[in-house]
Amino acid sequence: MPICEELKTIIDTTCDLPPMPLVAGRIVSLASDPETDAKVLERAIQADQALTANVLKIANSSFYGCLRSINTVSSAIVLIGFKGIKSLAVAASLKSFYRRVDLTEKMLWEHSIGSAVAAHILSKKLYCYPEEAFIAGLMHDIGKVILNNQKNELFSKIMQVSYNDQVPLVEVEKEHLGFTHAEVGGLMIQKWNLSDDLVEAVTFHHNLEGIDPLKTDVFRFAALLDLTNKICAHLGIGYRNPAEGIDFQQLKSVKILKAGDLNFLKLIEEVQTGYEAEKGIF
Ligand SMILES: [Fe+2]
Ligand SMILES: [Fe+2]
Repeated sequence: MPICEELKTIIDTTCDLPPMPLVAGRIVSLASDPETDAKVLERAIQADQALTANVLKIANSSFYGCLRSINTVSSAIVLIGFKGIKSLAVAASLKSFYRRVDLTEKMLWEHSIGSAVAAHILSKKLYCYPEEAFIAGLMHDIGKVILNNQKNELFSKIMQVSYNDQVPLVEVEKEHLGFTHAEVGGLMIQKWNLSDDLVEAVTFHHNLEGIDPLKTDVFRFAALLDLTNKICAHLGIGYRNPAEGIDFQQLKSVKILKAGDLNFLKLIEEVQTGYEAEKGIF
């Protein structure tokens, strides 16, 4: 269990964690069941026109990065697999989740798109959760969206203090709320019945030490999200200003991922191009 019961209760009473949109929920439960027939899953997706359109749109975007073009739901299921379809259905349903009415939310949305692009590119290079990295990037800071919506004044203050005093956001969150956006996000993803590894990677994306290092896969998954964040910070995607002077080779996450051989200049360029091409996809 990544989040202890006591903390869960505190978060539950402070935030109203939204349920997964119905259509996505049905796809997720079908795709989670190994007994489900691909035809049944196909029909369930096709029953919703908007979902079908969005799933195909995302599957074909450079954002998702499939090599072949995918024209039908059945070929999407074959090429992307049940786990990938689950991610796409959730991603397609997130569109309605972000209201994007204020500047903070607009920046969070941009950050989530940039992170999804970066996480997906990295996951393929590092063979780390290729089917889930994209949704992990898209959702890793969903806790911030919830806090910004539901505790707007307090969360604005928290962000301001973090920015003015140059203190990591999670530290200010802990001080003012007793928990972090990462824990809120992890709990919501758990409520949405997505995979335990995704829950854990999101919960610990700012606290790699919190993960049992023997759980090597999850440890790498959380490290992937950390590196994703650093790339977005470097590019200034979802930040007021681009972060200067990040030494990628020296990052703990790069060491965990054994990613020291990556050409970071090229990688960052790839993320920037993918982000620019697809930021309007939703
Ligand atoms: Fe975060
Ligand atoms: Fe982030």
